[in-house]
Amino acid sequence: MGSQMKYIIATNNADKLREMTDILSKHAIDIISPAEAGYADDVDETGETFCDNARLKAVAACKATGMPAIADDSGLVVEALGGAPGVRSKRFGGGGLSGSELCGYLLKLMEGVEQRDAKFVCAVVCAYPGGETFSVTGECIGSIALAPRGRGGFGYDPVFIASGMDKTMAELTQDEKNAISHRGAALREFAAVFERRAKLQEETL
Ligand code: IMP
Repeated sequence: MGSQMKYIIATNNADKLREMTDILSKHAIDIISPAEAGYADDVDETGETFCDNARLKAVAACKATGMPAIADDSGLVVEALGGAPGVRSKRFGGGGLSGSELCGYLLKLMEGVEQRDAKFVCAVVCAYPGGETFSVTGECIGSIALAPRGRGGFGYDPVFIASGMDKTMAELTQDEKNAISHRGAALREFAAVFERRAKLQEETL
């Protein structure tokens, strides 16, 4: 798993791809998009945890392309909803809803609810052609806004306010979001593991 290897970003979500590429571009990891690799498979997210689903996606992309693959599975965990939508964040409200529809559906469920604590969670799994995988996770703690605000980001960003901020995630610039997001935290941890492994490998050559 030398540092010269190309790592495919295993996602068909253009927003995630943009954020993952942005965050990883600050590290010496040679990444390639699914389109560049000619990879377009859509994996059924049948896992019970973010990590299970990220592993399913990473292993499928790795098997299909022969390249090490990095996949993200992420979502919103809302305290007052017993952890929903969680791993079903994309399919919340029956599936097929746009970002603003998902926000509207969530806000409706949260009408009159005072306890608005929530967190974004992101699991990142890296799968290698030899069958090895490793995983990292990141979280962003915050709360659900009373109304949507902002046009940046995607998904639930307009209704999520990270702790200590007064803006929603959708009112932040991409760099500001990446600096505090669940995805930023997970991918920086991923890069740290990657860099330690590359160094170890150089030392043993
Ligand atoms: P999946 O990881 O493909 O299952 O999709 C997770 C879903 O969670 C996305 O479709 C979004 O609705 C939501 N989600 C994940 N990450 C974010 C984020 O950074 N901001 C807003 N919503 C997110």
